[in-house]
Amino acid sequence: MKKRVLSGMRPTGKLHLGNLHGALANWKKLQEDYECYFFVADWHALTSDYQDTSHVQEYIWEMLIDWLAAGLDPQKATIFIQSKVPEHAELHLLFSMITPLPWLERNPTYKEQKKQLIEKDLNTYGFLGYPVLQAADILIYKAHFVPVGIDQLPHIELTREIARRFNYLYKKEVFPLPEPLLAEVPKLLGIDGRKMSKSYNNAIYLSDSPEEIRKKVSQMFTDKSRLRKRDPGHPDICNVFSFHKIYTAAEQVAEIERDCKAAKIGCVECKKIMAENLIAGLRPHQERRAYYKSHMDELKDIVAAGIKKAQAVARQTLEEAKAAVGI
Ligand code: TRP
Ligand code: SF4
Repeated sequence: MKKRVLSGMRPTGKLHLGNLHGALANWKKLQEDYECYFFVADWHALTSDYQDTSHVQEYIWEMLIDWLAAGLDPQKATIFIQSKVPEHAELHLLFSMITPLPWLERNPTYKEQKKQLIEKDLNTYGFLGYPVLQAADILIYKAHFVPVGIDQLPHIELTREIARRFNYLYKKEVFPLPEPLLAEVPKLLGIDGRKMSKSYNNAIYLSDSPEEIRKKVSQMFTDKSRLRKRDPGHPDICNVFSFHKIYTAAEQVAEIERDCKAAKIGCVECKKIMAENLIAGLRPHQERRAYYKSHMDELKDIVAAGIKKAQAVARQTLEEAKAAVGI
């Protein structure tokens, strides 16, 4: 029996290179060895973006297109949309009865996001309960492993605490305790040198045209100590070079490294080479994107089948949980 893996992503915007080389590359590998469930966390998007929901449908479907374009295989992984499996919401309600408020109030991501996203009113019941819903997402499939970024570790810990408390209160081992899976990811920063993120406006999107990519790459920060072409550069601290390591052939990478250190290549030229390699490297992904965009029926069928499969499992767990509680 394969172990179960589950993960989700919030549809709050277009996906970028950081998502592709981070979460998606990892998920694609995991689907070979685990029984995988991957879902679009649309309820979770609402916890912070409830005031403007005009883009949520677009983001959901664009996200699903990128997942398939990135190589998630519906034969191997169950791909679905959270709100279409209402059992998540029902288990969330059940968990909300047993989760002590202080567990949520001291959640570091809650405190931090409330401080950071000042333009949004996050003083809501739903936002505080974000990790309770996440616990329901995970536990309703009795997932063994949850691939996430480090920022999500407190939520996995809370999930374990909720599972433990439920099993203890109702004297039945309904929920196994899940474990986080942290993946090694290549360090691709945004064009301004900060973490690539849509909220920093520094991302290269998987849907960007060649012209947009050329423009963004030309604006990328490089080795800050290299002011003129005659100054030797330090590729090891240059974000453009990190991209070369992914998109440029090994021999050319070695050549660029040598020439940069010897001040024989300028950053403008180096970026132009990288931009073309990046455009070429992304082309297969973008072709698959275009395919699904013009075959939306196929995509909808894939997701409908995923919802059905997920729901069958979710319903069973929910029944078991309600029986243990006695309702
Ligand atoms: N909170 C996760 C994030 O922001 C998204 C998410 C929702 C999730 N439910 C989940 C991740 C369940 C893993 C498992 O990245
Ligand atoms: Fe970076 Fe290339 Fe400039 Fe060297 S030449 S600092 S690797 S952009």
